[in-house]
Amino acid sequence: MAIHLNEHRKNFNEAGRWFSKIRLRHFTGHDSYQEYLNSPIRLAHLTDQHVGRVTPMKVQMEAIDLVLAQNPDIVVLTGDFVCHSELYLSDLSEVVSRINKPKFAVLGNHDHWTNAQAVRKALIKGGVEVLENAHTLITINNQSLQLVGLDDAYTKHADINKATRGMKKNYATLGLSHIAEQADLLWLKHVPLVLSGHTHAGQITVAGLHELILKKVIGHKYIHGFYGSQNLSHPHGAVYVSAGIGAAVMPLRMGEKGKREIAIFELGATKEYLENIKLEK
Ligand SMILES: [Fe+2]
Repeated sequence: MAIHLNEHRKNFNEAGRWFSKIRLRHFTGHDSYQEYLNSPIRLAHLTDQHVGRVTPMKVQMEAIDLVLAQNPDIVVLTGDFVCHSELYLSDLSEVVSRINKPKFAVLGNHDHWTNAQAVRKALIKGGVEVLENAHTLITINNQSLQLVGLDDAYTKHADINKATRGMKKNYATLGLSHIAEQADLLWLKHVPLVLSGHTHAGQITVAGLHELILKKVIGHKYIHGFYGSQNLSHPHGAVYVSAGIGAAVMPLRMGEKGKREIAIFELGATKEYLENIKLEK
């Protein structure tokens, strides 16, 4: 029986290797950032790393290498760091400690289901600042960036009022929320861009069959990519839902949409600036 189990685990990891290609996407931020930032801030967004048995460490390290190769000014992580187990928390610390940039995180539903306190501790050990319904004003390249992080809404830990209370106006402000639908509320609090994850681009994402039965997955309004508007003429804002890095149940991530993904945002840049950067590469 033990042999069968080991073979089973090996096959999972082998399958993960086949699907380890990571897609890199580049975007500007919201147009309003151009008003507050003199030069663009480059931000890397990673989500749903699910460090554990299903997603091999090789893939985790590839993702970090790809992030660092973009030379970001700041890295943000939007939750689901673990995969049903506390056994890989030292691996999680090892993965995030490799990011030698200012790094900020919010927690996801898997972190709460596993052990939020332990996940938080592992992140802090890796040098990550965890924003749990909190905001902070940081300085990057002599410019101010306000970050507001919501705790996980799926497990009912999000507190929008607590997170935004005392937030400064007239600063470039970015929202982090594992669950993208919280953007609707953050836009009303004058947060023009929100980064999120959780859906794995609509791939095999469910934590258990009960979610399928309850149709919770298809209940999501924002599944993958940009929603809302980055344009100033739009009254609200934009939300970006990343496909993420890891997998929670099965190692398979199929098709172009379901590819593992890292998003780079040039906050405060114009579309023309982004085009020029792409041409230089
Ligand atoms: Fe999630």
